[in-house]
Amino acid sequence: MAFNADISGNNAVPETPMERLYSLISEDMEAVERLLVERAASPVSTIPDMSSYIISAGGKRLRPMITLAAAKAAGGRIGQPAHCLAAAVEFIHTATLLHDDVVDESELRRGKLAAKKVWGNSASILVGDFLFARAFTLMVETHSMRILDILSNASCVIAEGEVRQLAALGQAGLPLDEYMAIVEAKTAALFEAAARAGSLTNTPEGDESAALGEYGRRLGRAFQLVDDALDYGGLTDKLGKSVGDDFREGKLTLPVLYARERGGPEAQKFWDRALNVSTQTEDDLDIAIEQIRVTGAVEASLDTARREAEMAKDALARLPKSDCADALADIADFCVDRAY
Ligand code: IPE
Ligand code: IPE
Ligand code: MG
Ligand code: MG
Repeated sequence: MAFNADISGNNAVPETPMERLYSLISEDMEAVERLLVERAASPVSTIPDMSSYIISAGGKRLRPMITLAAAKAAGGRIGQPAHCLAAAVEFIHTATLLHDDVVDESELRRGKLAAKKVWGNSASILVGDFLFARAFTLMVETHSMRILDILSNASCVIAEGEVRQLAALGQAGLPLDEYMAIVEAKTAALFEAAARAGSLTNTPEGDESAALGEYGRRLGRAFQLVDDALDYGGLTDKLGKSVGDDFREGKLTLPVLYARERGGPEAQKFWDRALNVSTQTEDDLDIAIEQIRVTGAVEASLDTARREAEMAKDALARLPKSDCADALADIADFCVDRAY
């Protein structure tokens, strides 16, 4: 990835959108990183062992940075409530990753063996539960019932999205709007909550929080569409997770939807068989990647993602001008550009 949280220790001139955003909130992100370590503490050693394994592996920290930047873009200073909220958001994200790698049977996460490969599925689920619960402790420390409301609602929606996706596995003819509803729930809900709740640490609910919420929602949609494109068009080393995971699992994503639609009857027959894990064969991933390539399905997915990113920026344009709002706008472009 272009950005790693490790840059916090040096004085490099910010170059990428992620670095520029970080430079505006670096001290606050350092406070958030301390919270992530402190609040993963437990006398039950597997909990801090697994938590520090995945947290120290890096990750872009995109969601907590959005929370802090949204707080700043909404005006004023960032204080302890925003730090607690940002840490809670990253804990929720981390918990979903621990759960997700079990559900998706993934082997790699953040360039390392997935935690479930080291500690096993049961421990991965249970430590994920711990981090979820810890996120709620942190949210209570914001002393805002509204923030608690937003994040608890987002947590339900994420779980619903994951279950909805599970039910859709192997369904090659999944309608586009059902796919988008899954994306909205499993990914965009947390981005939206991160931005909206972040703003509420500094301003009452109103036009600004609505604009930031819409920014987060659109950004989250774009982000997942790009992630789904990278599962066919990306490189494992760059992604830190295995390319082809979605296909092996029989997951219908936007590039597949486009390739199946554009490829003609033969291609449709291929996708219908290959997305069924019981009839998928070893060579099918190579054929799938080739089908995706010849139909231009990755580019078409990225075009769709770019339109979402543009709508994210349109929402930001409703805010007063600020460095943080500008940096967030650049992040919308970065989310799509990271695919190139
Ligand atoms: C991975 O999110 C899960 C998706 C929503 C695709 P990120 O790509 O933000 O994961 P990290 O935190 O940087 O590892
Ligand atoms: C991302 O799921 C959303 C959640 C973890 C809730 P994915 O399964 O699409 O993401 P990756 O590709 O494993 O990161
Ligand atoms: Mg996954
Ligand atoms: Mg998943």
